[in-house]
Amino acid sequence: MSQSARLVSAKILEQVLLQRGSLSTQINKQISHVEYDEQGLAKELCFGVCRFYPQLNTVALSLLSKPFEEKDFDLYAALLMGLYQIEHMSTPDHAAVHESVELCRQLDKEWATKLMNAVLRRYQREREDILENLSSQPSMAHNLPKWLVKRFKKHWDAELDSIIEATNAHPPMCIRVNEAHVSRETYKQKLAEQGIVSRETSFSVSGLYLESAVPVTMLPDFENGHVSIQDESAQLAASLLAPQTGERVLDACAAPGGKTGHLLELAPDLDLTAVELEPWRLARIESNLERIGGSAALICGDASQPDQWWDKTPFDKILLDAPCSATGVIRRNPDIKINRKPDDIAALCDIQASILDATWQTLKQGGYLLYATCSLMPEENEQQITSFLARTEDAKECPLNLLNDKLALGFGKAVTHGVQVFPTLDGQDGFYYCLIKKG
Ligand SMILES: C[S@@+](CC[C@H](N)C(=O)[O-])C[C@H]1O[C@@H](n2cnc3c(N)ncnc32)[C@H](O)[C@@H]1O
Repeated sequence: MSQSARLVSAKILEQVLLQRGSLSTQINKQISHVEYDEQGLAKELCFGVCRFYPQLNTVALSLLSKPFEEKDFDLYAALLMGLYQIEHMSTPDHAAVHESVELCRQLDKEWATKLMNAVLRRYQREREDILENLSSQPSMAHNLPKWLVKRFKKHWDAELDSIIEATNAHPPMCIRVNEAHVSRETYKQKLAEQGIVSRETSFSVSGLYLESAVPVTMLPDFENGHVSIQDESAQLAASLLAPQTGERVLDACAAPGGKTGHLLELAPDLDLTAVELEPWRLARIESNLERIGGSAALICGDASQPDQWWDKTPFDKILLDAPCSATGVIRRNPDIKINRKPDDIAALCDIQASILDATWQTLKQGGYLLYATCSLMPEENEQQITSFLARTEDAKECPLNLLNDKLALGFGKAVTHGVQVFPTLDGQDGFYYCLIKKG
């Protein structure tokens, strides 16, 4: 039996607040409990609460005499949703309060109805004073965790304001046209015929930004693999590696397979091996490849343990799109504002280093490895590569577009090693790349 959008949203957000998996994982698990027509509302509530969590959380804590205990994080989610509706949705205030009180009952917590009503009504009455009193708090100004702003400032003082602005904005919808089927120009025209306005990406040669986001079902021939949803920065990875027919290529951290698919679009006869740690994410690569009609050897394995999956035939090229803090793509994964902790960065750096060292052993002499992350943290990027180059005698950094000189550089900022891309309003996501040659 289906459940209300608000009830399922509260349960999804409860799991996110309890650090039991990412927002996208929880949405995938639970969204089917909501009627199809209501799923948009559920997603808006979930993404919206995460996107504005630092501000909503500050306001909520100021309204409560004591914070909710973990066992009542479903109620806390309901309160944050109530505040989000009042502050950012067109829901009339009285309806937002009424729905939030009703939600306490749906959560079987009748005892909380008075509290919910009192807290939200007080916010309605005293909103301006409350916001004025809280305005000096950094969480209100930046809408990001304090530790993260501190790190951004430490590393990227000059870019800080634009990073914060782009990180808090809605990301643009960007698509990659599969030019094996249709040119970008023709596809742009097809979109225009559907009333969908688009513009060309600046650096990726096959990307289009849509003026407004649309459901994929509205994209002509999406089901036939003529286009995929992929940010412009992510589109550059396969182009930089420039796969050639017949080459043996490793996509070391492959799910959900956005770049796996792109590699195959650029060279359909590639001998491509895609390795992914998480079995359920491997299924995502499978369905992506099925849609675009590409084929690769899919392996569920740990890229840092090639003995488990490597047949000892060296690869010509490796794409290492490493697991990272995703601090360049917070606008697409706003639950990072809740889940990411400062200590995660060092742990991720260790994982990245071990995958780098291990996959390097599988690369042939004269082969190339493209290291990529969607992080803005130098520890995961240029510093990671500085250490790798220092401990790896046969590794040399190359110009980023060595393998594809048709690709215009000019995106991002050249750093000690590689290129750091920052997120921009209506433009690219935050990313990092470095191309390394063996021998
Ligand atoms: C940044 S995502 C890759 C995105 C992907 N390349 C794409 O374009 O769609 C990193 C992926 O690495 C996987 N991963 C994490 N640790 C891994 C490991 N030790 N071995 C293989 N995959 C790993 C994660 O589960 C995640 O799916």
